[in-house]
Amino acid sequence: MSSIISIKNFTKNEILEILNKANSLKNFPQQNLIENKIVATLFFEPSTRTRLSFTSASFKIGGKVLGFDSPDATSLKKGESLRDTIKVIEGYSDVIIMRHLRDGAAKFAKDISTVPIINAGDGSNEHPSQTLLDLYTIKDKLKNIDNLTTAFVGDLKYGRTVHSLTEALSKFSGQKFYFIAPDEIQIPSEIRKILDSKNIPYELLSDYKAILKEVDVLYMTRIQRERFENPDLYERVKNSFEISKNIILGNCKESMIILHPLPRVNEINIDLDDTKHAVYFEQAKNGVQIREAMIGIALGKINIHSSKKINDDTVINNDVSLCPNKNCITNFEKTDNKVVIKNNEQFCYYCGKKIN
Ligand code: CP
Repeated sequence: MSSIISIKNFTKNEILEILNKANSLKNFPQQNLIENKIVATLFFEPSTRTRLSFTSASFKIGGKVLGFDSPDATSLKKGESLRDTIKVIEGYSDVIIMRHLRDGAAKFAKDISTVPIINAGDGSNEHPSQTLLDLYTIKDKLKNIDNLTTAFVGDLKYGRTVHSLTEALSKFSGQKFYFIAPDEIQIPSEIRKILDSKNIPYELLSDYKAILKEVDVLYMTRIQRERFENPDLYERVKNSFEISKNIILGNCKESMIILHPLPRVNEINIDLDDTKHAVYFEQAKNGVQIREAMIGIALGKINIHSSKKINDDTVINNDVSLCPNKNCITNFEKTDNKVVIKNNEQFCYYCGKKIN
């Protein structure tokens, strides 16, 4: 049994193996794969797709589901900590699927839980199940994940799906990235450093029109109002991008696909929905078989053959008790004082942000 917290922990071959397992579950359903196992879905933040597709996935492979879709109806309202919530629910379930508003919350839960944790999105940090279904959709539609040019558009600072997908694609060869966003919500420096260290070409832009013809995957994202500390900034950037038929048709590759993790607000006009480029609803549907595979892996019912475990991080205890990231779990729960050392720099063990 193993937790699934970050896409960083998987090799390219392991990712491809998960996509194959998901495809096999789609074509050859296994209704008893996790028979009698109890899946807990703890959603401390709103969700439509992730929670319901994990629930659907659990039912399809024979599991039983309990959980909550809002912290308002739980004892968190009475001041209970996340630590205590996890320690209680591990006694009621065999696997915990958790979405939380704090960066690093999933890693924190994994370290204290006796049952596996699946990260269903932690703050603006990571969203590995979304990434796996994004990759599944790319492979299904374009037949290959190598040699792609991907343009990410929108809220690249807070967009956890962008962070996880960039990391995942960077494991495949021949990648090129365009990050298209207002300066204030551009891709974080931690992600740029990873690309720099792998010599992967990328450009930061404020508009997509000049590069649209080069793009294989146009990954649109919502500007995430709920994560902005400054409401004036949100008002300034909220309508930065809106693609529509007249912008896209005739100006992109015939094969270009438009992905969006959804929900959308106004960044994709509905007039694109009936074009061959729009695959975002199919993308959402692919979440079911991907999440069946993830639950199977977490419960030890599906094995993926690990070539080598990716863990080149050195973790040490440090006096630094609070991460500078205001949304990091370390600022809300009693955590260990751990930091990760990479290239003589210190990063928060939980949320990955640079400490000094
Ligand atoms: N893509 C995604 O995470 O959607 P939900 O917030 O609806 O789960």
